[in-house]
Order: sequence, then structure tokens, then C-alpha cells
Amino acid sequence: MLKTSAFKHEKILWTRARQRFCFGLLFVMMGTSLFIFYTSNLQASWLPSHSTTNSEPSPSDFTMTTSPDSIISPDPPVSGYHVAYPEKYFFTLDEPNRCQKENSFLVLMTPVAPHNKEARDIIRNTWGKETTVLGQRVSRYFLMGLSEEADGTELLQKQILQESEKHHDILQSNFLDTYKNLTIKTMVMFEWLLSHCPNTSYAMKVDSDIFLNVHNLVDMLLTAPRTLYMTGLVVRGAAVLRDPSSKWYLPYSVFPESTYPPYALGLGYVFSLDLPQRILEASAHVKAIYTEDVYVGLCLRHLRIPLTNPRHGRLFRLRAPRSARNCYWTSVIATILENSKQLLHVWKQYQIQSKGRCVHNQ
Ligand SMILES: *[C@@H]1O[C@H](CO)[C@@H](O)[C@H](O)[C@H]1NC(C)=O
Ligand SMILES: *[C@@H]1O[C@H](CO)[C@@H](O)[C@H](O)[C@H]1NC(C)=O
Repeated sequence: MLKTSAFKHEKILWTRARQRFCFGLLFVMMGTSLFIFYTSNLQASWLPSHSTTNSEPSPSDFTMTTSPDSIISPDPPVSGYHVAYPEKYFFTLDEPNRCQKENSFLVLMTPVAPHNKEARDIIRNTWGKETTVLGQRVSRYFLMGLSEEADGTELLQKQILQESEKHHDILQSNFLDTYKNLTIKTMVMFEWLLSHCPNTSYAMKVDSDIFLNVHNLVDMLLTAPRTLYMTGLVVRGAAVLRDPSSKWYLPYSVFPESTYPPYALGLGYVFSLDLPQRILEASAHVKAIYTEDVYVGLCLRHLRIPLTNPRHGRLFRLRAPRSARNCYWTSVIATILENSKQLLHVWKQYQIQSKGRCVHNQ
């Protein structure tokens, strides 16, 4: 989830403003009745239940025995903000033995839509080619659900099967692959890592439109903590997006806190392999919301596991500087690109930079 780009696209129109005013009025009215209901009936179950001595948001967990939206909703139709997890999903396409056999130090997991073979091929030909880095084995997989397209699903599925037979890097689970289901994708990723990679030290969830410098990543991990470790572009205390037109809108009834928990932005986060089991355990107590990175943050907060900041703030970047010369690509770990096609061009720049004097410039 990216706050900055969300704001960028939000143009305020007069009609919208008027709508919002009416909406806001309705919100206040209904919110008031909800408040009265709560204060008269119970100590709201979603209020922070533990008080802590530090200034971090209180680690209230999100076990809602009486979820506010089951009583009355102060928001427009509340659906699709929660996802069907935990639930029993299974892999329809799997690589059951590869991870254990390869005994990788690092596993890279890229969520991708079933139809997006182009992005997969570009990754296979760029950062996905790197299998041994600084003497460490690196493996890479693509993660998908079932195609949501009504037409041509059978043909697409046949193509994916062929692709899987050729590359042995596709993991497909039996949930519907939609934007609002990304949290399911992340959670089945944790399930898969837990059951398939017993001897792997770290994994990274990395999106398909990302430039990834695997060398710098491994270099960082060689001296990183082996347990209770998650890093990336860590966001702390960010305000929850309440504009219904935002891509990451969360209604108050679904998420009543005013700020997100600390979390690592979904573009790419790295973690030690003791975390999947813990996060999955936490997910039984933390109601799943559709913003996958925020949800992982909620699970970590439930577990009282703090996120780790990267060594410096320039390793995980939202975008590359306008002129990304001067060893930029050899100095970062991850950067969001405009699209995955741009990766082909950026990869060439990176190779030129790493052959030049940039190699020691980190
Ligand atoms: C998410 O996946 C589940 C399981 O396949 C499906 O029932 C549900 O409709 C999907 N939700 C969305 C919003 O696509
Ligand atoms: C786990 O990995 C380490 C380091 O690569 C290796 O020495 C060890 O033999 C592996 N253990 C198993 C059970 O594969």
C-alpha cells in the first residue's frame, strides 16, 4: 500500500466535496448513535485492551467478538474489506520439494496475476536470474491464485501449466486472484514457506514491478538478525486513508484506529523464516483486512514483534530519482518502477553501473 501515490491521484472536485459533506454529516450522525450504543452497552471490544509504557500504538489485538459492522455501519456498504482468511486453501500448482532440495539461504516470492506472464518473463531475465549471490543460494517463485477472468480461463490455465513445467517456479493456490484478495496471497505464501523451506534463513515478498538488487539484499542479510526480523520500507504512525475513493480506503467500522500499526510497505519486505509460523498463529486472532502489508503489521503488533529499520533510509525506495545515474542502481535494494517493462531498461543500467566504479559504492 502506498500512501503517497494514492494522494497524488486524488483530485478534489466540487461535486465530490459536496458528496463528502453529505457523507460526512451522515457519518457523524451514525457515528454518534454508534458511540452512544457502545458507551451504554459495553466497553467496545476494539478499544486498545492493553496499556503499554512506550509510545507505540497500544498492541490491542483485533479479535472482534462483536464486530462493530455486524451491529451498525457508519460507512457506505461494508463489504470486501475483510478477506476469507484463515481458511483452508491448497496449492493447485506446486513445487513440493524444490525449496528443501535447494537448501536456499534466501527465497524470493513474487505475487503476480495469473495472466501476467510478461512480468514473470521479465523477472526471469533480470534479477530473477541470480541464483548464487555472495556464495549464497537464492531461489525465486511466483505466487498466484485462480484467474478471475470469465473467458479464456481454461486456455490461460493450460498456458500456466506449460510455463510451470518449463520454469518450475509457479505456485498457484485455489483462491480467486483479485486485488481485494492480496492478503490471502500473502498468507498462503507464509503457509508455503513454513511447510516447504525448513532450512531457509530469509524470504522476501517482492512485487513484480520492482527493481531488486539481490546482491545488496544478500549482503545486508549476511549480517542481519536470524530471528524476529522483518525489514523494508517501514512506515510508522501513518494516518488511515478514509477517503472512499482511495485505493486503500478502510472504513471506520472495519478499522477504527486513526493510524496504521507500524508496517513494511508491500513493495518488498524481508523477513527471517521463524516469522511465517508466528504470523500464521497471530492470524487466528487478528481479523484479516484486504490491505496485505497493513495486515502483516497488525499480526506483528499482536505478537509484539517490532519491525526493523533498514541500515539507512535509501535502501528501499518508492521511486528512482529522475536521473538515476551515479551508481543509483548499485546502491539500493529495492525501488518501485513505473511498470515491469521498465525493468528491462533499468537492468541494463544496473549492469553497466556494477561493472564500473560503482561496485564498491554502497
Ligand atoms: C477471494 O477469494 C475467495 C476464495 O476463492 C472468494 O470466495 C472471494 O470471492 C474472493 N474475494 C474477492 C473480493 O475477490
Ligand atoms: C541447512 O543448511 C545449512 C547451511 O546451508 C547446512 O549446513 C545444513 O546441512 C542444512 N541442513 C539440512 C537438514 O539440510
